[in-house]
Amino acid sequence: MPQFISDDLLSEICSGNDIIDYVSKYVRLKKSGRDYSGLCPFHNEKTPSFHVSQDKQLFHCFGCGASGNLVQFVMRTENLDFVEAVKLLADRAGIIIPEGSANMSSAAHERKKRILEMNKIAARFFFNNLKHEERGRAAREYFGRRRISWKTVTVYGLGYALDERDALLNYLKSKGYTAEQIVDASLAVNRDGKIYDKFRARVMFPIIDVRGNVIGFGGRIMHDGEINGFKPPKYLNSSETAAFDKGRNLFSLNLAKNAKADDLILCEGYMDVISVYQAGIKNIVATLGTAITENQAKLMLRYAGEILICYDSDEAGVKAALRAIDIIGAAGGKSRVIRLKGAKDPDEYINKNGIEGFKAAAASAMPSTEFKISLIKGKYDTTTTDGKVRFIDEVVNVFSGLSDMVEIDAYMSRVAEETDINKEAILSKYKEKTAKNRYQRLPAKQEYKRREVMRANAGAEKKITVPNTLLEAEKRLLGLISTSKKLYRLAKEQLAPDDFSTDVYRRLARKIYDCYENGVQPDEAMILNEFSSAETETDEASAVFYNMEVYSNDESTLKDLIYTIRLEKLQMMINGENDPARLGELFKQKQELLEGKNTWEE
Ligand code: UTP
Ligand code: MN
Repeated sequence: MPQFISDDLLSEICSGNDIIDYVSKYVRLKKSGRDYSGLCPFHNEKTPSFHVSQDKQLFHCFGCGASGNLVQFVMRTENLDFVEAVKLLADRAGIIIPEGSANMSSAAHERKKRILEMNKIAARFFFNNLKHEERGRAAREYFGRRRISWKTVTVYGLGYALDERDALLNYLKSKGYTAEQIVDASLAVNRDGKIYDKFRARVMFPIIDVRGNVIGFGGRIMHDGEINGFKPPKYLNSSETAAFDKGRNLFSLNLAKNAKADDLILCEGYMDVISVYQAGIKNIVATLGTAITENQAKLMLRYAGEILICYDSDEAGVKAALRAIDIIGAAGGKSRVIRLKGAKDPDEYINKNGIEGFKAAAASAMPSTEFKISLIKGKYDTTTTDGKVRFIDEVVNVFSGLSDMVEIDAYMSRVAEETDINKEAILSKYKEKTAKNRYQRLPAKQEYKRREVMRANAGAEKKITVPNTLLEAEKRLLGLISTSKKLYRLAKEQLAPDDFSTDVYRRLARKIYDCYENGVQPDEAMILNEFSSAETETDEASAVFYNMEVYSNDESTLKDLIYTIRLEKLQMMINGENDPARLGELFKQKQELLEGKNTWEE
């Protein structure tokens, strides 16, 4: 748990959101008994096995086993990590979380919040302009010419900024904002003391972060070319504000993350993203009018194992792609390059070749190293000796930027073959270069596919075969003691947290025991927050609290469970024991336990 979200704050955020309310956005819930139920959003089903408990603030699917609290529901549906999910819920509840190292003053928070509010109002204003019968006609026609459907307009919340000096300014003023505040949000500009709307006569592209905040805008002119001898910039973007950091956000990542694809396509323009998305390829994002940063690369790698760079096919696009390859590499990721033949950008390409054409281009994306080599090769005539020498001299630079020896070796062999130059010679040239460069480069940390690794680790525990009866008994016992202090007291006499069979159960037991020892009743949903690092872990922990089997929470049930646990554990020891003397001892213990059971039942 990051320090800047304290337990108190987390609890405030959780109680500021109701699970029924939130889940209803995704699932049609019906009241059934004390719970609500509906069709599970995490697997395909025809009859409802997905339950939500208002009392416990938990969800649980009896079909697929998905289970958890509201934060974990948000993590799954929005594909966010824990902190981002908590932030989303905080936003919804109007609660401010101190950012990062808590060095942001509350005035700074207020400022950021105010800008986000203004942006939201502005986005709605632009959208309504676009919808307006007369005022929005030209802009609607513009989108029509660019083959953007109305549905896509609504998905992206596209809009239109009127051709007036102060339409938005006046509208925001009527909502209570001052001119200075509107300039602070980069929605207006101050020119020599006169304040105007920043965006005029432009179609508008709201930029939305992964939590759904409108953080800024891009606006495009509708007629390319000069107006009265003056050529306005084709795209105008919000300046950076307290709410808009261009190097840490990406256009359409809010939509792309939900595609849950293995890779993410990165392109240059808003229109590229929108066109490709409209055709049905949703894992696509763009930078915000600036070159890609390492932060953006890291952000992308949180959602994808590999980045497919799909920049414009002109010289500037190729240069930018080379830069992107290095930045993604430095962030610990892999990339490939999609080349678009016969079109200047993805928008044009998909309009010419359709979705199938684009998919084919993406499927044959070139590995970044190969892309770099092919560009260098294109510069020289490698049929001549001189050309070969220059080519090799430059191509070893590509090798010295790589950290994977297998990759280096494979490409070296290929270059040797293609140029008919001895591989040993290329290798020594490479060594010469790396000796010079070594101090400049640290190995990139391989962070991508982090989630897969986590999942694999979570599953590893199951390899030790613990009988289901034992697991089931431990699960029920933990569920029981979490609701009753009296039963907890009884249980702790017999079982310590470390006696439980799985890592998750041991940690859960520790949490529950701690709560009681500190004089507080365990709060299921709060405890679960600690079990958010993998879905398997969350499911396992949450199922403990969401046990629908009807059993009475009385002492005799608890005693039965303790008996089962002890018996099963003894049996496991007996199964694993080879020493006859120890076996005898274990059998004796088992016999005593069986007899003891009878005395309990009297
Ligand atoms: P492009 O010039 O490639 O535009 O700029 P595009 O995406 O193909 O746009 P259309 O098809 O002409 O509408 C790519 C990106 O660079 C930024 C914008 O973010 C744009 O989406 N850009 C471009 C600017 O910020 N300002 C400009 O004047 C031009
Ligand atoms: Mn374009």
